[in-house]
Amino acid sequence: MGLDNMSNDNPLVIRLTELEAEALAAVAEAGDSEALERVRVTYLGRKDGRISAILRQLGEIDPSDRRAVGAEANRVKETLTGALEVRSAQVSQETDFDVEAADLTMPGRETWAGGAHPVNQVVDEIWQIFRGMGFTRARGPEADTEWYNFEALNTPLDHPAADEQDTLYLKDSVLLRSHTSPVQIRTMEKHDPPIRILAPGMVYRRDTYDATHTPAFAQIEGLVVDEGITFVDFKATLAEFARRFWGADTKIRLRPSFFPFTEPSAEVDVKRLITLKDGSRVESDWIEIMGAGMVDPAVLENVGYDSERYTGFAFGMGPARMALLKYGVPDLRLFFENDIRFLGQFARGVGS
Ligand code: PHE
Repeated sequence: MGLDNMSNDNPLVIRLTELEAEALAAVAEAGDSEALERVRVTYLGRKDGRISAILRQLGEIDPSDRRAVGAEANRVKETLTGALEVRSAQVSQETDFDVEAADLTMPGRETWAGGAHPVNQVVDEIWQIFRGMGFTRARGPEADTEWYNFEALNTPLDHPAADEQDTLYLKDSVLLRSHTSPVQIRTMEKHDPPIRILAPGMVYRRDTYDATHTPAFAQIEGLVVDEGITFVDFKATLAEFARRFWGADTKIRLRPSFFPFTEPSAEVDVKRLITLKDGSRVESDWIEIMGAGMVDPAVLENVGYDSERYTGFAFGMGPARMALLKYGVPDLRLFFENDIRFLGQFARGVGS
């Protein structure tokens, strides 16, 4: 600073300040990249550039002024280089846009709006409800072994459910899981009761794609095991879930069924109050939403639990169907063609 002040009246410093103002004005005026290049050569060109010339003279000037002049020359050089860069970016933008050639009536580019898949949204909704009832999340692999997918679940390999016809085998005893129930086994192997888990995930079956089948679909498994869990806990939990999901007027019904890993087993149906377009409310038909039951003691024994001490219940539901039942009608376009046809079946009363 002291040096600068002392040397402000040095003729070379004054000259540099003048050159700076001149050069910046020339930069501002330059309308294309060639004009900018001419400005650069005029002031900063290595051979004849006006500022470079002053830097080259440094050796000849009074040593007491040398530092101040050198510093000012470098400062001007940097300022000018920066200004050239900024203007160069502006100029290339301006010249890229050819007003004559552009079609100014062309519609703007639409911004792309992403969103969670409707089934995933419903999985999250279901999860929030069970989380509120004290469940935690669990997961397991989509490629699993015959032991986890069938045998540990009390399903012998010659049981129709294990049939190679509807199971996708990878190699030997490894297959794409045909349901999320193997997560029951994997969770109980790792943890002692009390167990209260929800395990959403993809499952795979050798089904031909049609109105009511797809080879890959989502399931949500639930499992509760503790001392003193009864059928009342089972039914009350599912009834409360249905009311929280569809509304307080929702009813559930348990139909006797069979799964090798639950005893007794049930299929769970719901009846909902539907609001029509005119605002009136009607009861829906009964529609199945899940398979469920009390955990078979043989399954508890397979994971080393004492089946005299512990009891539990399990359920498996299909969130795609639940998404359709909750949101399907107003938002039909959100769903795959397959799901639309699927809903159509219900709309016509088939399958209920
Ligand atoms: N895993 C059964 C299925 O895919 C559903 C189920 C889960 C049934 C848990 C009972 C208990 O059909």
